[in-house]
Amino acid sequence: MSLVCLTDFQAHAREQLSKSTRDFIEGGADDSITRDDNIAAFKRIRLRPRYLRDVSEVDTRTTIQGEEISAPICIAPTGFHCLVWPDGEMSTARDKENERLNATQQRRAAQAAGICYITSTFASCSLEDIVIAAPEGLRWFQLYVHPDLQLNKQLIQRVESLGFKALVITLDTPVCGNRRHDIRNQLRRNLTLTDLQSPKKGNAIPYFQMTPISTSLCWNDLSWFQSITRLPIILKGILTKEDAELAVKHNVQGIIVSNHGGRQLDEVLASIDALTEVVAAVKGKIEVYLDGGVRTGNDVLKALALGAKCIFLGRPILWGLACKGEHGVKEVLNILTNEFHTSMALTGCRSVAEINRNLVQFSRL
Ligand SMILES: Cc1cc2nc3c(=O)[nH]c(=O)nc-3n(C[C@H](O)[C@H](O)[C@H](O)COP(=O)(O)O)c2cc1C
Repeated sequence: MSLVCLTDFQAHAREQLSKSTRDFIEGGADDSITRDDNIAAFKRIRLRPRYLRDVSEVDTRTTIQGEEISAPICIAPTGFHCLVWPDGEMSTARDKENERLNATQQRRAAQAAGICYITSTFASCSLEDIVIAAPEGLRWFQLYVHPDLQLNKQLIQRVESLGFKALVITLDTPVCGNRRHDIRNQLRRNLTLTDLQSPKKGNAIPYFQMTPISTSLCWNDLSWFQSITRLPIILKGILTKEDAELAVKHNVQGIIVSNHGGRQLDEVLASIDALTEVVAAVKGKIEVYLDGGVRTGNDVLKALALGAKCIFLGRPILWGLACKGEHGVKEVLNILTNEFHTSMALTGCRSVAEINRNLVQFSRL
């Protein structure tokens, strides 16, 4: 079967993966209401095209944090790619090798596409491996704040010296969401997180046997991060105007409107529904991005029309990886970029700067 859209990749990936891996990727928290609404909410928005505008040349390029990207379509952080490999019964040793391969494949695909790739704290291959595999191109690092501040400091310093261009702090995981499928499937893996290696040598921390994410992180702690790094700080997981205003007040450089793909708190707003109030609250002072439920070029266009500077893809990248490795990730990015190009042409937008609020209307359906 030829794979011509992102949902084709989803269907094909389903056939490649074991049940527990499929559930791990696809699953949402509790009743998965927010996971599903992330997609449905995009479909409640209608487009208002403009014609007779000479769209013989359409330019999808834009910038984020001052860096050019070929299209406003980037890769969200996702951990534990080794689970995506089509063999659900791998040995721990092969898990590690596949994790290394998968993370580097994503990175290489992102580099080839000229877009940004956010590396997850839970990538169990080393940051050095990722950088060696794809030394060029834009990379940001996503941090789950560890309770041990020194560990965070060491990691951030490494990230900075390896040429990562921004620090993305995930806020929506003070505790892990209730993922029933993973509990039912008894998803337990003794993966070691190379990048969270304790300062005491050899004392790697096994995931699922620990609670590595700080439960006590507060707004006032952000100044500590600002004191130890010059990297721009992006907060991932903001859904309300109140938190968006606090983000501006605390001098961060960006926000990713996100509900973690519906994997954390269920029954929160779909990302695209939360975007409008966040964009209004920041009043253009910092950049706002979005992830969650983006599956078509029209979705990208809608997110930009409502004020996002770019979108990030979570699951679709893993579908590409599961179907065809690095090549699959490249195809997913190509398909979505081509769709976005078409969406721009059909709505009369020659450049990303021409995408604006008048292009969309919330449908009463
Ligand atoms: C399998 C999987 C692993 C994820 N791991 C992380 C992670 O390590 N850090 C993080 O901040 N978000 C993580 N996320 C959330 C994504 O970054 C992103 O917010 C979400 O997947 C976007 O929604 P989408 O999958 O509908 O595109 C993960 C999501 C999935 C599906």
